[in-house]
Amino acid sequence: MQIHKIAVIPGDGIGPEVISEGCKVLEQVARLDGGFRFEFTTFPWGCEYYLKNGRMMAEDGIERLSGFDAIFLGAVGFPGVPDHISLWGLLLTIRKSFDQYVNLRPVKLLRGAPCPLKDVRREDIDMVFVRENSEGEYAGSGSWLYRDTPREVVLQNGVFSRHGCERIMRYAFELARREQKTLTSVSKGNALNYSMVFWDQIFAEVGREYPDVKTASYLVDAASMMMVKRPEAFEVIVTSNLFGDILTDLGAAIAGGLGLAAGANINPERKYPSMFEPIHGSAPDIAGRQIANPLATVWAASQMLDFFHHDAWGRRLLDVMEDVLTEGKILTPDMGGTATTAQVGDEIVSRLGR
Ligand code: NAI
Ligand code: MG
Repeated sequence: MQIHKIAVIPGDGIGPEVISEGCKVLEQVARLDGGFRFEFTTFPWGCEYYLKNGRMMAEDGIERLSGFDAIFLGAVGFPGVPDHISLWGLLLTIRKSFDQYVNLRPVKLLRGAPCPLKDVRREDIDMVFVRENSEGEYAGSGSWLYRDTPREVVLQNGVFSRHGCERIMRYAFELARREQKTLTSVSKGNALNYSMVFWDQIFAEVGREYPDVKTASYLVDAASMMMVKRPEAFEVIVTSNLFGDILTDLGAAIAGGLGLAAGANINPERKYPSMFEPIHGSAPDIAGRQIANPLATVWAASQMLDFFHHDAWGRRLLDVMEDVLTEGKILTPDMGGTATTAQVGDEIVSRLGR
């Protein structure tokens, strides 16, 4: 029996509500398969922990997580703790410490999912973002000089290394090749005359190793417009940390909303655990009311199954989500339904068994 050891970090706000549905669904998958099982260990880290202990996670947190096969994260952030502290103290620390340099975010309009765009066919919105997740604009490099004086100056550096750019682009080219899809690079070489000129140059260089992959390259402003006007133009997209962050929220908006969007933070070498999460935040406005949509977390669970080479189960989870969405009966309020978070999770579990 194969055992997948999962570190569960429910986090803040709606995090615990959605993550328990995700675990429930994964347990059912393992039960039905019979060939593997999950061993969950929960860590109580997040903003509440911070208020008690002055830190977002235990001091030896990274060391303790390093023995797991994967991390399943709800969401972090809550009023009372500044967002840059909650983000850097947990999520970004994990991404960086475990060299999870690929952020994989599917933007696919599921059957039955709402779409605000007019005149698009469902199959027109089917793309996957490969977002650079370890450096770029979120490298955390900069300085704050003459703080709190009239002369104060802040510098926030974008950090683009050859190593960092090459590896993310290679990952994207491999993915596009395997799935026989086109690869689009999104950058901004006209205005960012160092970092993005370098990015474009490396994209062209790496591309020469993949003559069979059809490529395109767009400026980020044009790409955002095209995602709305001609979403069918995009299949696999590779982009920087900041641009990927923003474009995937736009992607979530055109593919069913934040209640559906998921992301995987992957260390492709599997030297460290990878992390799977819904991309939405802790939604303090609806926390504790059992009305949060757990489907984004279920999608993240599907990505985890793919990562463990249980691809057939990963696909099956998406199929079941599509059935639930199409039927439209058991959905949370954000999808126009009246069901609770747990009822949606139970529905997925029961349909998996049918
Ligand atoms: P948010 O994603 O938490 O909420 C935005 C809006 O979407 C809210 O109206 C919320 O009710 C709704 N929403 C989000 N997820 C939903 C779900 N599953 N079902 C139904 N409705 C849902 O973003 P916001 O409000 O900007 O941030 C709240 C907190 O979360 C902040 O502290 C922020 O720093 C943190 N955050 C954490 C992230 C993470 O842990 N990965 C990502 C984004 C924000
Ligand atoms: Mg974001």
